[in-house]
Amino acid sequence: MSSFPTIRMRRLRTHPKLRDMVRETMLTPNDFILPLFVRHGEKTRVDISSMPGHAQLTVDLLADEVAEIESLGIPSIILFGIPETKDSVGSDAYDDNGIVQQALRAIKAAGSNLLGMADVCFCEFTDHGHCGIINDRHGTMDVDNDATLEILVKEAVSFAKAGADVIAPSGMMDGMITALRTGLDDSGFENIPILSYAAKYSSGFYGPFREAAESAPTFGDRRTYQMDPANGAEALREVELDLAEGADMLMVKPALSYLDIIRRVKHAHPEVPLAAYSVSGEFAMVKAAAANGWIDEQRVALEILTSIKRAGADMILNYFAKDAARWLS
Ligand code: PBG
Repeated sequence: MSSFPTIRMRRLRTHPKLRDMVRETMLTPNDFILPLFVRHGEKTRVDISSMPGHAQLTVDLLADEVAEIESLGIPSIILFGIPETKDSVGSDAYDDNGIVQQALRAIKAAGSNLLGMADVCFCEFTDHGHCGIINDRHGTMDVDNDATLEILVKEAVSFAKAGADVIAPSGMMDGMITALRTGLDDSGFENIPILSYAAKYSSGFYGPFREAAESAPTFGDRRTYQMDPANGAEALREVELDLAEGADMLMVKPALSYLDIIRRVKHAHPEVPLAAYSVSGEFAMVKAAAANGWIDEQRVALEILTSIKRAGADMILNYFAKDAARWLS
């Protein structure tokens, strides 16, 4: 029999104030980046049925929206655009009058101080829904990596000209950070940071987003460019390459099923700001279960967001942001 007294971990859990004082992870609205969907047209909100509370907004509705977001203490948004017309190369994405460019200008014109990030990809802009230019050089239709890099640069430079504060490429093309850094620098945007979706997985959790952004691929899937969910070490290679190419910040996506990846990336690079994207399917699961009365939405949402931060994320792209900011205040 041991002669030691019981070590009482519960002592520090007895008083609520003491629990507050010994809490290791503090979630605040300052951690959040809120995705927004912008569409063509006027005075229209098109609700996204699988993402309750979220809608595609026309550009004229953005001024009020960003004012509300800012008033809640959320520092940043990331824009996704749904253009009026899609084509095989997604040309709206690099049209200086494209939907995202219009949105960026409207936000600046409204005097907003939010940090405006722009997702740089093609799946919302192409008629086939893939993240770049398609060719069949090898007998199967696939995204042409290097041809896509050229239009990615045009897209990013056009977004920067329209007022994007951060460029966030999500297409998982090889060499995209080198191409974008060079292209931005050559156009005088050497101070615009790149947040790379460095480890982005080919995930079933993107389902509701594809309704929101009308970006589901019309054939095949994204497995030739996005990562296999079974791979962890490979995420570190993606991260090494993106850092070597000049990424300023990194992202892991999705978040909840990839907390181990967030942990590994933060451990390998504690000095690099790390974002995690709690994606549409993570949000939809919580909403659906809560609507059935099976879980407590507020409690579960905050628990998920806290776990993402505890795993090592410095910032969290997520769809709970407005409600979560209210709950935290
Ligand atoms: C691709 C992109 C996707 C998301 C953000 N950017 C999805 C995809 O690969 O189809 C998904 C985000 C979410 O599910 O919330 N440009």
